[in-house]
Amino acid sequence: MKRVISILMVLSIILAFAGCSTNNNTTESTTSAEKSTLQTNETKADSSKTTTDNKSLVVFFSRTGEQYEVGVIEKGNTAIVADMIAEQTGADSFEILPKEDNYPTTYKELTDVAKEEQNNNARPETKDTIANFDQYDTIYLGYPIWWGDLPMICYTFLESYDFSGKTIIPFCTHAGSGNAGTQSKIQSAAPNATVKEVLAIAGTDAQNDPESVKSIVTEWLNSHS
Ligand SMILES: Cc1cc2nc3c(=O)[nH]c(=O)nc-3n(C[C@H](O)[C@H](O)[C@H](O)COP(=O)(O)O)c2cc1C
Repeated sequence: MKRVISILMVLSIILAFAGCSTNNNTTESTTSAEKSTLQTNETKADSSKTTTDNKSLVVFFSRTGEQYEVGVIEKGNTAIVADMIAEQTGADSFEILPKEDNYPTTYKELTDVAKEEQNNNARPETKDTIANFDQYDTIYLGYPIWWGDLPMICYTFLESYDFSGKTIIPFCTHAGSGNAGTQSKIQSAAPNATVKEVLAIAGTDAQNDPESVKSIVTEWLNSHS
C-alpha cells in the first residue's frame, strides 16, 4: 500500500511539473505574439513618422512637346530636375498643371500664348490643389523661364497658399537667361516666405546631360542641408 501511495505521489508531482511547463509555453508564446504585435505597431508608427517627418515638397511646372533646342520631348526639362530633387531628398512631389490645358505643343505657338498671358498679367487656374500644404516647411519650386519671368501659372500657385514660416528654394531651367532675376519676383509674390537663391540649369543640359546635372543638384542640395 505504501508503495502504491508513493507511486501516486511521484505521478502527481510529474503531472504538476508538466502542467507548469505547458503554462510556461503558453505564456512564452503569448509574449512572442505580444512582441510581434508591438513590432508591427512600432513599424506602423515608424512609417507614419517618416510621412510626418517628410516636410519638403517639390512643386514644379514644366512642358513636354516641342521645346527650345531639344526638339519634341516626352519629359519636360524642369520635370527632369524636379524628379532628381525629389529622389535625392525623399520629398513629396506636386506638378502644377493647368485646369484647362490649352497650351500649344509647338514652340513658336507656345511662346505666343505665354507672351499674351504675361501681357495680361494672367493667373491661369491650376487643375489641382495641394492637400495639407501646412505640413511642409520647405518648398522646392521649379519652373522654366518664360519671357524672362516665371510662367504666370506659377504666380497662381504662389498666391494660392500661405507661405508664412516656409522656405522656398527655387530652381529653373532656361535657354540662356539664367535665373532671370526670378528670386525677387518669387519673394514679391510670397512676401512671408524666406526665398533662397535660384538654381539655374540649362534646359539642354537637363535633357541631354542628366548625369552632370544630377551632380550639380547633389552639391546644391548639400549646400541647403
Ligand atoms: C514660352 C517660352 C518662353 C521662353 N522664354 C525664355 C526666356 O526668356 N529666356 C530663356 O533663357 N529661355 C526661355 N525659354 C526656354 C525655356 O526656359 C527652356 O527651354 C526650358 O528649359 C523649358 O523647360 P520645360 O521643358 O520644363 O518647360 C522659353 C520657352 C518658352 C516655351
